[in-house]
Parts: sequence; C-alpha cells; structure tokens
Amino acid sequence: MSGSVTVVVGTQWGDEGKGKLVELLSGQADACIRFQGGGNAGHTVVNDAGEFKLHQVPCGIFNPACVCLMGTGTVIDPPAIMEELEGLSRKGVAVAQLLLSDRAHVVMPYHKLLDEVEDTARGAYRVETTKRGIGPAYTDKVARIGIRLQDLLSADVLRDKLEILLPRHNALLTTLYGQQPFEQEQVLAECLKWGEWLKPRIVDTVPLLRSLLKEGKQLLLEGQLSAMKDIDWGSYPFVTSSSPTAAGAATGAGIAPRQITRVIGVAKAYSTQVGTGPMPAELKDEQGERLRRLGGEFGATTGRPRRTGWFDAVVTRYVSEINGCSDLALTKLDVLDTLPEIPICVAYRYRGERIEEVPGPATHEACEPVYEVLPGWQTSTSDARALQDLPRNARAYLDRLAELVQLPIHSVGVGPHRAQTILT
Ligand code: GDP
Ligand code: IMO
Ligand code: MG
Repeated sequence: MSGSVTVVVGTQWGDEGKGKLVELLSGQADACIRFQGGGNAGHTVVNDAGEFKLHQVPCGIFNPACVCLMGTGTVIDPPAIMEELEGLSRKGVAVAQLLLSDRAHVVMPYHKLLDEVEDTARGAYRVETTKRGIGPAYTDKVARIGIRLQDLLSADVLRDKLEILLPRHNALLTTLYGQQPFEQEQVLAECLKWGEWLKPRIVDTVPLLRSLLKEGKQLLLEGQLSAMKDIDWGSYPFVTSSSPTAAGAATGAGIAPRQITRVIGVAKAYSTQVGTGPMPAELKDEQGERLRRLGGEFGATTGRPRRTGWFDAVVTRYVSEINGCSDLALTKLDVLDTLPEIPICVAYRYRGERIEEVPGPATHEACEPVYEVLPGWQTSTSDARALQDLPRNARAYLDRLAELVQLPIHSVGVGPHRAQTILT
C-alpha cells in the first residue's frame, strides 16, 4: 500500500493562512512535515484550545496522533524551538510527537547578528528580513561549513567545526560591521546544552518516512512563505534563502517527487506582503490602510504592518504553475464583506503593453495593475459553512478568481477559527 502526500504552499508573498489550513487538514494526517525555512514562519492557528502563533513547530502538533517533523531542509533555532514547545505545553498542547531531522542545520547566534547587520549593508537591495538568522544559516549550509543538528551531539565535531567557522565569522563581524566577536568555548558550551535538550527528538528521517509511506499513511507537507520569495523563482534578491515550492518540499522533506499526490495552493482573497519587493497591486492609500485594519494585517513573527493590495491573479497563477497546484484554498473572504466594489488585478501594463506573466523584478516593479472591478456583497459571510450560504456576488468573486488562476477551489476561509472554513 502506498500513502498519500499533500503539500500546502503559499501562492502570494506569505501569510496566506497556510497554518490554519494545515491544522485543519492535520486532523486526518499521520505526519506533518516542515520542509524549508525556520523561525521566520509565523503560522496562526485558532482552535478550541485558543490562538497560537507557530514559528518552527508544524501546525499538525494539535493532533497527538500526528507525527510532526522539522525536515532536513529546515534551519533550526534550538532555544527558540524549546521556548515554543514550552509555550505550547503550558497551554495544554501535547508536544512529545515533535521530531527533528538530524540533517537539518542549526541557526547559530552569529547567524542572527549577521542577518541584522548584513541586511542593513545591502542598502537599496535590503530584504527587510525577519532577522531570525535564516539567510546566514543557509549561506553556511551552501558554503559547506554549517553545523547540523547531529553535530550538536558531538563535542569533538563541534570544536573542529567552530575552529574553522568562528574566525571567519568573527573577522567579518568585527572588521566590516564593528561588532563584538563570539567566543569559541562559550558557543561550544551552548551548543552542547542544546544537543542535550534536543537529543531525544533528533532522528534519521529516511527510515521514518519509508515506513510511514509503506504503511499507507497520510503525509502533510507544510510550506512556509511562497514561491514569490523563493530563492530561484521569487523576486530576487528580495527573497528568502530556501525553496518554498512543491519541488522544494520533495527535497526538503526527503519525499520522492513521484510520491506527491496533491498540491494545495493557498491565497488570500486580496494581497499582502512583508518586506521589500515588487507588488504592482499594492494600495498605498487609505484603502490599503482599511484592508490592513479589516484583515488585522500585522506580521505573526515580527508584528510589522503588512503591505496590502488587491488580489493579483498574475502572481497567483504564476506561483500555482511553478508548484503544479491541483487546487486553490482561498482565505479571508470575510475581510472583504463590507466593501462596495472589489478590484482584481488581471494583468499588468508596462510601457503601454499588456503583460499577463510575472516579469523580472525591475520590470515587475514598474508594472501598473490592470483591474477588473467586481461588485461587493456587503453582507457578513463569517457564518457561512457551505458555498450555497454565500451571497451571490461573493460566489461570483470566488468563481472569477478560480477562473483567472485556472484551478478548482479547495476551500474558502470566512474567519480565523478552524471551523470558519467552507470545504468545497
Ligand atoms: P500563514 O503564515 O500563511 O500561516 O498565515 P498567518 O497566520 O501569518 O496570517 C494569516 C492571518 O489571517 C492569521 O491572523 C489568521 O488567523 C488569519 N486568517 C486565516 N484565515 C482566515 C480567514 O479565512 N478569515 C480571517 N478573517 N482571518 C483568517
Ligand atoms: P510565513 O510562513 C511573510 C519575508 C521577510 C523578507 C523575506 C526574507 O508566515 O508565510 P527571511 O527572514 O526569510 O530571510 O526574510 O521574506 N518573510 C516572510 N513574510 N511571511 C513569512 O512566513 C515570512 N518569512 C520571511 O519579510 O521580505
Ligand atoms: Mg505567516
């Protein structure tokens, strides 16, 4: 018997409501796996146990029968994940089923400091990162000098690696950025303490995934961010340092691409973005402020106000294609409930020409949105539990989005609580 593998990915710029959907789907899943990113994620779950903002712990954690795994493609911040687990435990959530790949990389204290100072130094190319050390941790991984979780279990390996690593990072930090150097014995002691804490959770994921798939289990792969911030397919350089796509899910989780059975793309009924990068349908006026207020658009990780705009069908269609999405989960429809009219960005205009593909970042930045305006419904949708419960104009809006993105609708979110979801 072969199991099923569902991947959930964002199709805008992150914060589409992936966490809510993953938590809902994980009720039926045997395993929930994060495959890239780390503490830069802010995934919100609202269920009967309360409201939770998860950063490193997969959103399947609320189902005690669901194995949760930080996969090989993730970067792990040990003190932050311990704090997150303690916070969940305090609220009565069982956390014993969280496992961590022995091959995942460690976010080290110098990565966080480098993330701060390097982003400022990028000047006009600054990314406005989450400052969680993500970029520098992946940089060390690719430079083949990174520390993996399994290294935390060996003082000898750690000492060897730090002897090579620290002088290099310290030279950069002190000379170029005027920062204090990190002291080797202190870093080593900290790493060994983290290793002791995390040891019972560190596993080789290969036999684990093999047996789950052999037993016909349901696997859920939880994406972070979206392909618009993908290192290859996003608005480079205004991106993250990993691959938040279905292809990245295969590599990062350690699942053969052929085993992926479904890819659900998640999109808000409008757009938001945190950090720099092109966003042609952005609203920099009172209307944007209104969307921010109505949608509560403040970052789950950093609390920063999110940039807001109308739904960009060009972007979501592009991201859905890159991911090979099988269906589209639309979220936050209720946020539009009071609006008399709702524009959709259906194409761009660039130097007088109409464009329907996402161009390179410099051109994308200069694109003007081409809007098609649909009438609003001006009725609350938050109690709707079936498509038939929605006002006619709301259904027409959803149908138009599905047509533009060329995907069937998997579900519609009408409020933050897991129950406020219409499964189609
Ligand atoms: P993620 O990073 O993709 O998991 O999304 P975030 O959790 O960062 O941001 C989504 C925000 O929208 C959170 O505050 C959620 O509680 C909220 N949310 C998710 N779905 C819905 C919905 O359908 N309606 C409303 N009103 N809020 C939602
Ligand atoms: P979830 O999973 C929204 C943004 C940052 C910055 C860029 C790179 O909740 O959707 P990084 O810290 O990764 O080096 O920052 O990506 N960013 C996010 N924006 N939601 C996230 O995660 C994000 N993770 C990173 O603002 O522009
Ligand atoms: Mg988020």
